[in-house]
Amino acid sequence: MNTLLLSALDAKTPAIAAELIRQGELVAIPTETVYGLGADGLNEAAVAKIFEAKGRPQDNPLILHIWDASQMEQFCHDIPKAAYDLAKAFWPGPLTMVLPARQIVPRRTTGGLDTVALRCPDNAVTREIIRLSGVPIAAPSANISGKPSTTTAQHVLHDHDGKIAAVVDGGPCRVGVESTIVDLTEDRPRLLRPGGITPEQLIAVLGDLVVDKAVTAQIDKDAVVKAPGMKYRHYAPSEPVVIVAGSREKAAAYIHRHFTPGDRVLCFEEELPLYADCNPLSYGQEADANTLSAGLFAALRELDDPRIHQVYARCPVGGGVAYAVQNRLKKAAAFHIVDAEVEE
Ligand code: TXA
Ligand code: MG
Repeated sequence: MNTLLLSALDAKTPAIAAELIRQGELVAIPTETVYGLGADGLNEAAVAKIFEAKGRPQDNPLILHIWDASQMEQFCHDIPKAAYDLAKAFWPGPLTMVLPARQIVPRRTTGGLDTVALRCPDNAVTREIIRLSGVPIAAPSANISGKPSTTTAQHVLHDHDGKIAAVVDGGPCRVGVESTIVDLTEDRPRLLRPGGITPEQLIAVLGDLVVDKAVTAQIDKDAVVKAPGMKYRHYAPSEPVVIVAGSREKAAAYIHRHFTPGDRVLCFEEELPLYADCNPLSYGQEADANTLSAGLFAALRELDDPRIHQVYARCPVGGGVAYAVQNRLKKAAAFHIVDAEVEE
């Protein structure tokens, strides 16, 4: 198959992409978070192609992308007031809500669950594609399962060229990590995945938030979890990643003691001079967590190289968007963290 590369700047692109979606084809779409691998979310055969292209486990449900919050009722029932409040505050934007699913949503899309994840992305061209296609677009991050997510059209082509109908090139993604996921199907709202909408922002609207244990710890692959996607190995380059926590000086001393040729250092831009002899790669500025979220996946993809033995990574601390960066980096490291303040 010849994969079309469609520019988001071309006025004809939304109609072409929407027609391919209607025909049951796979189209990669840009969003403010990461590129998604999109298909008609109501068409089981089209949805099956997503799982096949990604090599994704069948029990890992997909997010349905809608073009406007008014579509919520078409796909969900018993929608709590909190969902309307969140939609008003953060849609279009990097927030996904888990709600009770109507029958119209195939169980292949929801991974067999009676709930469905909904999101209205903040990308005008992609919303126009959804509107013109007349169906909600099911779209996981467009990476091959387990690999770092795709934040440029080139990343998508790297993983899927020749295997999907088209990629819509909307340039690099602004947020760079996937959407925040909140489950609204229980008594209390539950954070299943941190992202561009921060816990602080959610609490300001909801007044309450439980953080699921899958956010902060490694989940056993046989465990029963709220977000099935959270238990799989994620975002990982081919070689082991270890996070080195602690002050700039202590971390640099630790890494220099352990570094051997063939290793790489993933650090903040401010730290580059400290690692001049350690083949460093910066993913953004520690002083601005938005640059770290925007740069993380491109850096992890660059480090996905079988010639590399080991990556020593520096991870931001604190809340806000840094919280989402920590979550992704810890998963990439399979929660392998050393504290340079105490460890030799
Ligand atoms: O930013 C994003 O959310 C991107 C872009 C493309 O919109 N999409 C994305 O999709 O990150 P994906 O498939 O890579 O991650 C979706 C996560 C998975 O961990 C999945 O298990 C969880 O959402 N999920 C989907 N439906 C769910 C449901 N009904 N209940 C609980 N978790 C759900
Ligand atoms: Mg993903």
